This record gives sequence, C-alpha cells and structure tokens, in this order.
Amino acid sequence: MILHQALPSEFAKTLEAYRALETLLADGKVRAIGVSNFMVDHLSRLLDRATVVPAVNQIEVHPYFAQPEVQDFGAEHGILTQAWSPIGGITFYRDGSHGSTLADPVIGEIATTHGKTPAQVMLRWGMQHGRSVIPKSTKPSRIAENINVFDFELSADEITAIDGLDTGRRGGPEPDAITLETFGREIPEA
Ligand SMILES: NC(=O)c1ccc[n+]([C@@H]2O[C@H](COP(=O)([O-])OP(=O)(O)OC[C@H]3O[C@@H](n4cnc5c(N)ncnc54)[C@H](OP(=O)(O)O)[C@@H]3O)[C@@H](O)[C@H]2O)c1
Repeated sequence: MILHQALPSEFAKTLEAYRALETLLADGKVRAIGVSNFMVDHLSRLLDRATVVPAVNQIEVHPYFAQPEVQDFGAEHGILTQAWSPIGGITFYRDGSHGSTLADPVIGEIATTHGKTPAQVMLRWGMQHGRSVIPKSTKPSRIAENINVFDFELSADEITAIDGLDTGRRGGPEPDAITLETFGREIPEA
C-alpha cells in the first residue's frame, strides 16, 4: 500500500497518514508500505520520524523527466524507485505539446536496432537502471508487448543516450504545490 502524495504545507498530516500505513503493516493487513511523489525533502522529513523505511517511492520517471536526485536519495536509503509513466504516457496523454517519448528519434533508433518498440526500449532502460516499472495499457496486445522485455539488453552507450534526453520538465503536478486548498477532498466516512 502506498501513500499517494505528501502534503508539504501540513507535513504533520503526512506523518499521521504514514503512521496509519505502519499500523496496517504491523497488524499484518498489508505486506509492504511505500510512498508516492515524495521529493528528497519529503523523504528526509519522513525518515526522521518513521519507524519503517518505505519500500518504494513511486514517482514520475521516463526519458524526458528522470528526477535523478530523488532516485539517488532513495537508493542511499534502501527505497526502491518505482516509475509511473515509465513509457512517458504523461508526455502524450495530457497535452503532448512538448513532444512524446514514443516518437523520440533517439529511442526510435535504438528500438529499430534491437527489433523492439520504443515502449519496450523505455521499459528496458528503466529496468536496467534497477527501477520498478509499471506501464499501463487498456489493450491486450500492448500489455503483451510491455511484458516482452526480457530477451534483449541495452548497451551502456544506449542507456547513456536515453539518460541524455532528460528535459527536467515535469509532466504531473508539482509535489510542493499540493495543498488542501487545491487538492483537498471531503471523505464523509473518515
Ligand atoms: N502515483 C502517481 O501519482 C501516478 C501518476 C500517474 C500514473 N500513475 C500510475 O502509473 C501507471 C502507468 O503510468 P501512466 O498510465 O501514467 O503512463 P504509461 O504507462 O507510461 O503510458 C500509458 C499510456 O501509453 C499507452 N500505451 C501503453 N502501452 C503502450 C505501448 N506499448 N505502445 C504505445 N502506447 C502504449 C496507453 O494507451 P492505451 O491504454 O491505449 O494502450 C496510455 O495512453 C498507471 O498504473 C498509473 O495508475 C501513478
């Protein structure tokens, strides 16, 4: 079970929510707990107070936005980076005005070299970096395509070429801009 988002402006609520996950883990109700969209500052504030290190931090990672500083901090503290939008879905299903990772020429050329698709190359890139990757598709043929990534390997040069595509431009919401005013929801049963 993961905590979807930190609430940086009221971090005590974030800690309270994470403590609820720790209780579920201690009670054997869930097998592992983690967080999502936590930046370095959020992780470090959480680690100061938590008793359980989150198993994963699920963050936006694809060739156009890789957040190396968050990944490095996670690696130093035993937190696995789990990539959401691992084939860059957020680069094309939202507005697409900054270009789609699926149409990137560098990725396309590497895909052609291996007889694979751009999506498969991006998943392989994530896996060879040691990340968990969670692509999503509504189409059975693409689900099959996305799992068919265990019969080829990218070279170090190919990985470096894909690393070089990072634009530093986030596709999803800025985690520090999440406030109760902008994203708050009433939960009547709570
Ligand atoms: N924690 C968070 O804040 C957060 C935020 C966003 C997403 N997520 C989770 O992350 C997971 C995946 O991320 P995502 O859906 O944003 O992006 P993604 O998996 O990178 O991309 C999904 C998009 O790519 C298309 N697609 C899938 N496989 C393809 C393929 N082989 N070739 C071409 N197009 C393909 C899908 O369309 P079709 O369905 O038409 O195939 C869909 O439009 C989801 O389970 C989502 O719930 C988490």
